[in-house]
Amino acid sequence: MLKGKKILIGVTGSIAAYKIALLVRLLIKNGAEVKVVMTKAAAEFITPLTLATLSRNPVSIDLASDSGNWENHVMLGRWADLMVIAPLSCNTLAKMATGFCDNLLMAVYLSATTPVYVAPAMDEDMWKHESVKKNLQIIESYGNKIIPVNAGELASGLVGEGRMAEPEQILETMKKVLIPVTELTGKKILVTAGPTYEAIDPVRFIGNHSSGKMGIEIAKVLKTKGAEVNLVLGPVNGNFDLDGIKVERVESAEEMFNACSRQFPEMDIAVMAAAVADYTPVEKAQNKIKKTEDNWSLSFKKTPDILKNLGNIKKDNQLLVGFALETNNEKENAKNKLQSKNADLIVLNSLNDTGSGFGFDTNKVTIFDKQGNEWGYEMKSKKAVAEDIVQAIIRSLHV
Ligand code: CTP
Repeated sequence: MLKGKKILIGVTGSIAAYKIALLVRLLIKNGAEVKVVMTKAAAEFITPLTLATLSRNPVSIDLASDSGNWENHVMLGRWADLMVIAPLSCNTLAKMATGFCDNLLMAVYLSATTPVYVAPAMDEDMWKHESVKKNLQIIESYGNKIIPVNAGELASGLVGEGRMAEPEQILETMKKVLIPVTELTGKKILVTAGPTYEAIDPVRFIGNHSSGKMGIEIAKVLKTKGAEVNLVLGPVNGNFDLDGIKVERVESAEEMFNACSRQFPEMDIAVMAAAVADYTPVEKAQNKIKKTEDNWSLSFKKTPDILKNLGNIKKDNQLLVGFALETNNEKENAKNKLQSKNADLIVLNSLNDTGSGFGFDTNKVTIFDKQGNEWGYEMKSKKAVAEDIVQAIIRSLHV
């Protein structure tokens, strides 16, 4: 996603200018802010109105506007995180090579302090002309980046090299430049969070006090490290900022099991932070159970163990992280869970530490890996604990 990224497009006179409508649309769809500067020649090929409508910003062409105001080309160049000149005509290329400034687009280009990419568009004979080759080398030597041309049908009717890169290719280039590569870029990660509710009848359930905060913080930290995060979230209340995270809401352990089993084969990593109910009523009453008996008992059956199931189907290139919530024999129980559920890491949450566990904003954890290492941490905010857990995951990826 390009949310918050500012992109300035310079359009020059070439038949490929019509494709810029699609490029602007793709950028807006990806969350970018877009402004367009055109040359007069470009406006012969595509109307400023089209690009203003799609970019949701006025389009600038002249150094002075119709109302006699000066267009601040310096600030336009500085506003952008990236400038792309597409299509780049032979004429504008020559101006860029020599610094010839006779229009707004050139003034913006010459004042731009941001990286400049160009997507040339020419007929093959022009493209292969020595002067064009030389000018491209010159503008590259100034630090501009060239998005390669495609081969195919050209405006002249000939077939050959010189077609402007397709809008999708230009978009991909921009994403590579603007989205920083971080430790978890390209990793798909499944996270579970929150409690599960096991229905007794249509109005009652058995649940637990999990707030979902720990799992949600982990999902958010993973996202900031560049991962694609899918969160399977049990019933929690509160306004969590889950921007950019794909969320599937579930109620019961069975629903969480189904969601995780379906998603896990596509994942590189799974972090099971949910407090899943271990038992569920054998039967869910169709109607509200009436208060007829003095004593009443319910029969329970075990829920499917999600972590264990994922441990059974886990492939060598997948990393599985579990949690252990313990009150006694903590370390021993945690290590046993690491083994029995075939996890790669287990995060021990001890309920014996005040401020740790359900409902609190703080937590104190110990992390064990299957190589026998153990890392103990101080009591911290759940956000800081999430950072520690994510660092442990990143470390494990390199073992
Ligand atoms: N877990 C799960 N499915 C369940 C129960 C637990 O995936 N039906 C997962 C939890 O998300 C956690 C780990 O197993 O990552 C350990 O959970 P915990 O409650 O500590 O242990 P249990 O396996 O339920 O065992 P016990 O309650 O006996 O300690």
